[in-house]
Amino acid sequence: MTAQQHTGWQIQQQLLHYLADGRFYSGAWLGEQLQLSRTAIANHMQQLEQFGLELFKVKGKGYRLAEPLQLLSAKHIAAVQHAGAAPIEVESIVDSTNSQLMQRLQRGDKLMKGQCLVAEAQTAGRGRHGRVWHSPFAANLYFSMYWQLEQGIQAAMGLSLVIGVAVAELLEQQYQLQPALKWPNDIYSEGKKLAGVLIELSGQSDGQCQLVIGIGINVQMPVQSARQHIDQPWTDLTSLIGALDRNLLVAGLQHSCMNQLTRFERDGFAVFQPEFNRRHCFQGQPVRLVQGGQQITGTCHGVDAQGNLIVEHQGKKQLYHGGELSLRAGA
Ligand code: ATP
Ligand code: BTN
Repeated sequence: MTAQQHTGWQIQQQLLHYLADGRFYSGAWLGEQLQLSRTAIANHMQQLEQFGLELFKVKGKGYRLAEPLQLLSAKHIAAVQHAGAAPIEVESIVDSTNSQLMQRLQRGDKLMKGQCLVAEAQTAGRGRHGRVWHSPFAANLYFSMYWQLEQGIQAAMGLSLVIGVAVAELLEQQYQLQPALKWPNDIYSEGKKLAGVLIELSGQSDGQCQLVIGIGINVQMPVQSARQHIDQPWTDLTSLIGALDRNLLVAGLQHSCMNQLTRFERDGFAVFQPEFNRRHCFQGQPVRLVQGGQQITGTCHGVDAQGNLIVEHQGKKQLYHGGELSLRAGA
């Protein structure tokens, strides 16, 4: 961020501080509080809209947010974190929380296992295969965690499934939801995409493997902007269970991921096999496995004890793995 952008952002944060309650504030009143002209306030409001905030402007009344919002707070998160948990940093706007942690690793910064970074918005949020992860401001959760596997890169296979189980378990225990997992990295609810996982490797040293685990969970997605940016059915936690505290969600997510990663290191993937399969969307159903222009059709039998996908094709069970494959419901 440039110095100018930084100052701009400080002003926008002050504006958000007033607007967060969802009530109307006039441009003149806001200008007085921040010692800025009404035109300057209008420009900052425009900038906030570009970050994905839905704002209403009504003549004679002023500005208000489409929905009240609760901002992320490092202090509130720390207050509800589990004892001894690694630190969680909160940023306003970043390119991608995964890219930020990856850059630190590439610079040789020392990170703590379980250390997390969350942001209010991402300007270049990423999904698999360089797809865009739509990341509007203060609407969802954009979360990345640093982890290190002592057993090296081989052990990393199956990790996105382990994280899927960690997210599902949190949503079940903390919010009484029953999410479904889709191999290898998606979390669904009622047949719509609720969350996704993107794990990136930052190389190896001394047999150790350094990882950045990225998780995006939709919390309260602005409908208009999603319509423009997301090309498949999606859902968010607010539609499923009503309003919730994102700070509590962040702390819970770190705890759940650390728990399951520790189990994975101790026991391997085999213990996760039934936990994943129990929640897998297409168990026993016809599926298509797509790679580029090619596809294989068959019946899905979940994953084996290593996390390979099992698809039965013409009476024969075949194992599939690899980041290039996408699983879809079959005919
Ligand atoms: P795959 O089975 O290969 O994982 P996918 O369509 O789920 O397929 P991903 O790379 O996992 O692809 O996720 C990126 C896709 O998710 C985007 O192309 C878009 O359709 C959708 N998407 C982007 N942002 C969001 C979001 N915030 N919530 C839900 N879905 C989103
Ligand atoms: C997917 O479904 O393809 C994975 C989506 C992962 C999105 C998260 S949001 C936090 C982290 N930063 C990113 O740029 N991507 C992940």
